[in-house]
Amino acid sequence: MCKSLKEKFLNKTAKVCVIGLGYVGLPLAISLAKYGYEVFGIDTSKDKIKSLRNGKSYILDISDKDLQDVIHKNLFVGDDFSILSKANAISICVPTPLNKTKDPDLSYLSSSIEKIIQFIKRGTLIILESTTYPGTTEELITKTIENNKKYRLGIDFFVCFSPERIDPGNKKLDIKNIPKVIGGDTSNSLELGMIYYSSIFNEMIPVSSTKVAEMTKLLENTFRSVNIALVNELTLMCERMNINIWEVIDAASTKPMGYMPFYPGPGIGGHCIPLDPMYLSWRGKTFDYYNRFIELSNDINRNMPRYMVQNISELLNRQEKSIKNSIIFLIGISYKKNVADLRESPAIEIYRLLEEKGGKLIYHDPYVPHCKINGKTIYSQNLTKETIKSADLIVITTDHSNIDYPFIIKHAKNIFDTRNVTKLYTNQKHITLLGNLYE
Ligand SMILES: NC(=O)c1ccc[n+]([C@@H]2O[C@H](COP(=O)([O-])OP(=O)(O)OC[C@H]3O[C@@H](n4cnc5c(N)ncnc54)[C@H](O)[C@@H]3O)[C@@H](O)[C@H]2O)c1
Repeated sequence: MCKSLKEKFLNKTAKVCVIGLGYVGLPLAISLAKYGYEVFGIDTSKDKIKSLRNGKSYILDISDKDLQDVIHKNLFVGDDFSILSKANAISICVPTPLNKTKDPDLSYLSSSIEKIIQFIKRGTLIILESTTYPGTTEELITKTIENNKKYRLGIDFFVCFSPERIDPGNKKLDIKNIPKVIGGDTSNSLELGMIYYSSIFNEMIPVSSTKVAEMTKLLENTFRSVNIALVNELTLMCERMNINIWEVIDAASTKPMGYMPFYPGPGIGGHCIPLDPMYLSWRGKTFDYYNRFIELSNDINRNMPRYMVQNISELLNRQEKSIKNSIIFLIGISYKKNVADLRESPAIEIYRLLEEKGGKLIYHDPYVPHCKINGKTIYSQNLTKETIKSADLIVITTDHSNIDYPFIIKHAKNIFDTRNVTKLYTNQKHITLLGNLYE
């Protein structure tokens, strides 16, 4: 079985499936289709399926043309899971969020696995791409299939974990150029996974198990979370000491070894950095291990939006104003620059907190024409002389590249720049940088 599957990957006759067509699954499905496989994309969102079938991409990094080149030719999308019975390989790219108590919510993954069990045939390779704690692939996929289907691992089916490392909004990185880590639950699973994914990724990095591959992804994102928290905390400290943290970071970045810069900001967002370390922390607790670094970093990073609100209150106070009834104009509402993704966006948290205190909030975001905050739909304002002048305070929450910052600076009464995007103009009196409140 393993041999015939190998041949199907090598001669491109494999039929492959991607479950979950979001930021991770859609680029993967398109790459596989461009390579020449017949690809079935499955998503539970009817709106997304409709949009894809009409050749309209909902992800900024994927152009309509990229999609139109393959859709209805060798990429077919739908919400019918019975297509899984035709697949030689299945990649799972569904969300792995946290629940209300900040524990892993594996319900999307579990429901995908239920469907896989219902429909797969012998000889299928399954690759999990969703980020999760070490042990998930083996416990939730391999064991569940063994128990329910009585298939033998490494003979009747094959399982790998291969974490996704895309960086949405980063035009310099094409997914094929990002080295792809992969671990298998058996050596022939790994061999098949390597052959399959080598067709679209230039460099494969095999590791000894699915657990190692799962842990690799969590190490990467925990590293980011901890370092962002460190620089956020140093920012608060520098502010008291009247030292410009941005200048410190620039100077430290000239060190050719042993240092890489991380930058402070209004908080962390997206579907990775705020969530992934919590998966690891949760898993650690089941082994009676309490991960202090992760919990502390999470605490610092999650409190940054509240800290921004304190700063905003202070800045308005200097103008003898309060948050209540002041017009506060947020520039950028997505969680990071050059993306439309709102998940866990600190800008939304800041908006919500300020509105609760009676502020009159407006926002501008070229990528987010409207969104829902506190249960009501709000719309991006145009960046005009009038809207800028009307604001008591402009807060730069997300540093999108296509915003006319000199225009804002020219017309604003006061600016609070949480991203140091106005660095070229910091000598202007009405701009306050994060970390520089008491200058
Ligand atoms: N976004 C990133 O930058 C990024 C990077 C690396 C890893 N990841 C990980 O990849 C996984 C997916 O993240 P994403 O950002 O692509 O999420 P996403 O929300 O953009 O996409 C997930 C898609 O899965 C669909 N879906 C949900 N349940 C489903 C089901 N049972 N069957 C079929 N489709 C279903 C949703 O409708 C959605 O379109 C997560 O585990 C995430 O942590 C994300």
